Amino acid sequence: MLRTEINELLTQTGPGTPMGELFRRYWQPVLLAEELPENDCPPVRAKILSERLIAFRDSEGRYGLMDEFCAHRGVSLWFARNEQGGLRCPYHGWKYDVTGQAIEVPSEPETSNFCANVKLKSYPMVKLGDVLWAYLGDPEKQPPLPEWEFVTVPEGHAFTSKRLQECNWLQALEGGIDSSHVSFLHSGNLDSDPLFKGSKGNQYNKGDLKPFFEVVDYEGGLLIGARRNAEENHYYWRVTPWVLPNFTMVPPRGDHPVHGHFWVPIDDEHCWAYSFDYHPTRHLTDVEVAAMRAGMGVHSENDAAYRPVANKDNDYLMDREAQRRGETFSGIRGIALQDSSIQESMGPIVDRTKERLVATDAGIIKARQKLRKSALALQEGVEPVGNRPQDQKVRSVAIVLPADQAFVEGIGEAMIAKPGVPQTTV
Ligand code: FES
Ligand SMILES: [Fe+2]
Repeated sequence: MLRTEINELLTQTGPGTPMGELFRRYWQPVLLAEELPENDCPPVRAKILSERLIAFRDSEGRYGLMDEFCAHRGVSLWFARNEQGGLRCPYHGWKYDVTGQAIEVPSEPETSNFCANVKLKSYPMVKLGDVLWAYLGDPEKQPPLPEWEFVTVPEGHAFTSKRLQECNWLQALEGGIDSSHVSFLHSGNLDSDPLFKGSKGNQYNKGDLKPFFEVVDYEGGLLIGARRNAEENHYYWRVTPWVLPNFTMVPPRGDHPVHGHFWVPIDDEHCWAYSFDYHPTRHLTDVEVAAMRAGMGVHSENDAAYRPVANKDNDYLMDREAQRRGETFSGIRGIALQDSSIQESMGPIVDRTKERLVATDAGIIKARQKLRKSALALQEGVEPVGNRPQDQKVRSVAIVLPADQAFVEGIGEAMIAKPGVPQTTV
């Protein structure tokens, strides 16, 4: 249970809010690279952390991310023409380059210096892997570029998608931290989803519905270990890293690609779930990529605006018969929509003053504490962690350990991403 003011502190990420300022110390996914596929392609709306921005790619392939609205009289530059070297507002023809600098104001005399003094707010945006990343914070505090393993593996090893989730970022993140729901909500999918089925770990998952959670601090965030019974005197551990503020990674299953998420606030009542899959030591197969594109695993089938086809307007295409037959536990098809349907059902911002937490919520409790502490410490000038390359070279782990061994000792360096080294998985 949280007090109202703490719930507000954790869930509000607009400019000037404590959590918003914390988020502004990190490179965040702002678009998929496929949204700006070529030079001079149409501009794209990119709202993040309650800021309405426009993104485009100019004639030389440079990316621009800036205030959505024209400095003249506020027209949305989504309507702009992407012309040679800049975006031209369609109302009176003011033109901007990728830094937001006005480079033409046609109504002004050629000798006038007017446009030199007009600049839209703009932010750096770079392509790494399949994702365009933006940094919205103080330029003086800009961290190094992200080095998450899913953006640094060789070409062909990774796949990334995104979907709109119609609720606050924190309740989406909390779903990523709480792996106790897997044995219930996703139980129907462990044996049927081509990106999950067949691993030994699935049997342990389904055989023990009372996982014990152990949460351990590490520099970039938390390691959340879920312990389930395995063979005699052994436990099956699934270890989920959470890296501040909004990165989580699902533990692997067999030789399947491993997956994870960024939960990126759009505004306080919507977020993007950026969902990635990668394999550290091999290409994804055509069959795997086809399954991801079809919305299996952690991905979803979406419309052109990245809103899932199954959404709250159609009750997520609930199938009571499939629920009754046990094909799906909740009646909703697909792991991604199982998560977002129940999280959206909690309301746009869940009222955490009314919740009743139990032992399996230990990871969520600790993550909230760390987020709150980091946001308040930043106000006192203490820079956060999670934005340094060493925090980002992290992996999830699935492993069977002797019953008397602590999971942190047992996993050793398996949670550290090393190029070319296989994942530790069961
Ligand atoms: S409003 Fe954009 S040029 Fe006038
Ligand atoms: Fe889930």
